[in-house]
Amino acid sequence: MKGVILAGGTGSRLYPLTKVTNKHLLPVYDKPMIYYPMQTLIDAGITEIMIVSGRGHAGHFLELLGSGIDFGVHFTYEIQETAGGIAQALGLAKDFADSDPVAVILGDNIFQDNVRTAVGSFKSGAMIFLKEVPDANRFGVAEINGKNIISIEEKPAVPKSNLAVAGLYIYDSRVFSIIRDLRPSGRGELEITDVNNEYIRLGEMSYSLLQGDWSDAGTFESLFRASELIRNVRLVNY
Ligand code: G1P
Repeated sequence: MKGVILAGGTGSRLYPLTKVTNKHLLPVYDKPMIYYPMQTLIDAGITEIMIVSGRGHAGHFLELLGSGIDFGVHFTYEIQETAGGIAQALGLAKDFADSDPVAVILGDNIFQDNVRTAVGSFKSGAMIFLKEVPDANRFGVAEINGKNIISIEEKPAVPKSNLAVAGLYIYDSRVFSIIRDLRPSGRGELEITDVNNEYIRLGEMSYSLLQGDWSDAGTFESLFRASELIRNVRLVNY
């Protein structure tokens, strides 16, 4: 399985922190934000990782992370020319994926769980990771019935559950033809939630519940909470 870290976007919700740098390079406690999703992929046993970033700061990612030799993995870099959504950014990884399944992680998502077992159990279709949260309306929200996912709604005003869809997705190679056939949403982006709903429609979606803490880091509050999360984990471990 290959890994893809999506680190594009404008970071507008964190302005002016993101005026001269990229959101994913901002500190989360003692490391640049992107280190955490990178480590999640590495801990899952993935060694071929593509980093997709926007224009402007791409060189900074290269300087920070290099070839991957320091981490025992290999990085490939790709540029998303315009901020056209998560699914559009993933579409850029088609040649890199080369028919292999991909684990896609959002560059602002911090996971405490080790997902190696879930990644190892993946065979085909798609897999998402869900976490109970108090503020589900900020996320993609899954409606489930036992082992089945019925639907996912992107940032619903009235969520049907408290299960947020975390920013880690595993797809088989069909994902690229699904992305090719997507239409932009109301906000003009190719939505990852539309990709997931297509796998649900095909009856090919499974999920795993996260046991540990999880946070995004794309708003002032969640960035602060992500730093707290890491600090608490460090204090327990040392
Ligand atoms: C994105 C996805 C959303 C997901 C979230 C996780 O939202 O669209 O479905 O729950 O990431 O962090 P964003 O925060 O990019 O608006």
